[in-house]
Order: sequence, then C-alpha cells, then structure tokens
Amino acid sequence: MPKRVDVDSLSDLATPWSLRVVVTLGVADQLAAGVTEIGDLARHIKCDRDCLARVLRHLVSKGVFEEPVEGEFALNEAARSLLRSGPLRGLALDGHGGRSAAAWNGLLATVRTGQPGYQNVFGRSYWADLDADSDLAASYDVNMGRRAGEASDPAILLDDDTWTQVAHVVDVGGGTGETLAEILRARPTVRGTLVDLPRTVARSTEVFAAAGVADRAAVQGQSFFDPLPTGADVYLLKRLLLDWPDEQAVVLLTRCAEAAAPRGRVVVVGGVSPGRAAASAGLLMMVQTGGKPRTLDEFRGLAARAGLTVTASGHSPSGQFVTECRPAAGSTARKTNARR
Ligand SMILES: C[S@@+](CC[C@H](N)C(=O)[O-])C[C@H]1O[C@@H](n2cnc3c(N)ncnc32)[C@H](O)[C@@H]1O
Repeated sequence: MPKRVDVDSLSDLATPWSLRVVVTLGVADQLAAGVTEIGDLARHIKCDRDCLARVLRHLVSKGVFEEPVEGEFALNEAARSLLRSGPLRGLALDGHGGRSAAAWNGLLATVRTGQPGYQNVFGRSYWADLDADSDLAASYDVNMGRRAGEASDPAILLDDDTWTQVAHVVDVGGGTGETLAEILRARPTVRGTLVDLPRTVARSTEVFAAAGVADRAAVQGQSFFDPLPTGADVYLLKRLLLDWPDEQAVVLLTRCAEAAAPRGRVVVVGGVSPGRAAASAGLLMMVQTGGKPRTLDEFRGLAARAGLTVTASGHSPSGQFVTECRPAAGSTARKTNARR
C-alpha cells in the first residue's frame, strides 16, 4: 500500500516561520524564567498578545510548547531546544539566520538558472553580502563557531599512532578556531595555524585562550584561494567544500596540495559521502553559494584535478565521513589564479 503523503501540510510555511519568530523573540527563555501568562509574556517581549498567542498555539498543535491552562504556556522538551542557548538558536531572524531563511526566496531563480538565487534576493552574492555587512558577518561567524564546537572530533580519522607523526595542523577556513582549539587541546604536542578571512580569525583569540592552547595556535588572516602556509603535516578542510561549486573547490584543493607537498595530508570532513547524500543535503547551499555535496567518486575526480590522490576514507568516531588525500606522486598541483 503506497504511503499517503500529506502534501498540504508539507507545503505549509507557518511552522518554520513560527519557530524562527519565537526564537528571535526569546519566548522559550521567558518561559524558562517563569514568565508564562500570555499577557505578561507579550509585555516582556513587546509583542501583540493575540498574535503571539496564535503563533504559540500553532506550535503547541505541532508538539512544541504546551498550554496546560488557557493563556498559560510552558516549555516541553522540543521547546527547550529553542532557548537562546539551545541548539536551534541559529534560527533567530536577527542576523545570519534571517538571511538563511529569506534566501529560500531564491530557490525558484536557482532552479531556473542554475545559479545561486541569493543574488536575486539580496542584490549581491552570499560572500559579497557577508563582506559588505560587518554585523551579518559577525553573526555568521558566531553561528558557524557554535556548530563547529558541537561537531568537533579531534581524531579526524587519524589514529593515535599517526597523530604521533603530526606536529603541525593547518585548519583551512577554520572559522573562529573552535575545531582547531579542540584538536590542540586533545593533542598537547601539536601546534596549529588557523587560516580564514582576517575579520574571522580576529575573533579566535578568546577561543584559543579559553581552551588553554593560545601558545600553540597561530592565525593567518587571508583568502584560502591564495597560497597557504606550507609544510604542515595536516591541512584540514572541515564543512568547507559544500560551500563551493566545482571550479572553486578545485582551486581550494589545489592550494592545499601545493602547500602540503610533498608529504602532508589533506583531510576533508563534511560535504563528501560514500554514496549519494541525503536528497535534501546542501539544498540551501545550492541557493546561497552554488555549493553542493559530493560522492566519494565525484570528490576523487576533483581531488585528481587538484593534484591530490585519495588515500583513505571512513567514518570518524563521531560518525562524520572523513576523506584523506595526499599530493599525487610526481604531480605539481595545477597552478591557477581563480578567485571567488
Ligand atoms: C561553513 S564555515 C566552516 C568553518 C569551520 N571549518 C567549521 O567546521 O565550522 C566556512 C568558513 O569559510 C570561511 N571562508 C569563506 N570564504 C573564504 C575565503 N575566501 N578565504 C578564507 N576563508 C573563507 C568563512 O569565513 C567560514 O569560516
């Protein structure tokens, strides 16, 4: 018997937008602080009482929040994830989360043209938008840093024996340093270099200090499409390739190959999967940047164009799929000047 699909409810935008609105307003935080009566709640967060009640009741009907007594709201487990300190705080519309939500308006243009529709919605490309708006860029860095912190896995596929041969890790596009800090904390003999845009690496000081690794962490504010610091043992690309179309991904991998030659490794975490990725994976990146997830075979092709050979792949203890490459024997990575 074919499964009945409720297309009507699939097409309903009320729930995703209601969730974003309550995160933005900090409703869950108010409830956690004991402000539960709808009038008090509306006053505290400066909202219209009736509209707020309707949005909350919609979410109650979906299993998020409870209304144990008429006009009194309460947190349940699902609603707790909407706390401003919770895992879904990135949904807040005041910053990068707002851009990500509104970017979906570009899906139609993306599908029609094959180009990221972000440009049609906001009048400039995703990266140019971040470059032009320092508050937006700061909010992006915070969101990425939180997600990096949540998904950190200092093993990154290398076993303990291999780690004894690693003295220097370059985290390419490493954001504000959460992943590198985690690696350095787990491996006291390793030193690291964080490469990211100047505005982003500038925000890493506290991250390294808090992890107690500042003396082993260097930062390099630059584009990763320019030559990278050379001679490190590991070049880490975490949650990065998914952001880029093939042409730029090859340039980025080429920079890694050039810098890693002859003996370093390039370790890719995220954006590559052994088989076809989940159908919805990377759809937002398709709209925002034109990036996409890749199968291991597709990645092998890109890596080869960059002068890299895939030497290992597998799941790390945290379940992330990790791919390790080495500069191909005798290959001089193709020199290229492409930029984003
Ligand atoms: C999706 S985040 C990934 C951050 C980090 N690797 C992680 O796992 O959380 C992409 C990173 O690429 C950086 N980035 C984008 N364009 C860049 C460029 N041209 N040069 C250097 N970094 C860049 C962004 O600033 C951001 O930190």
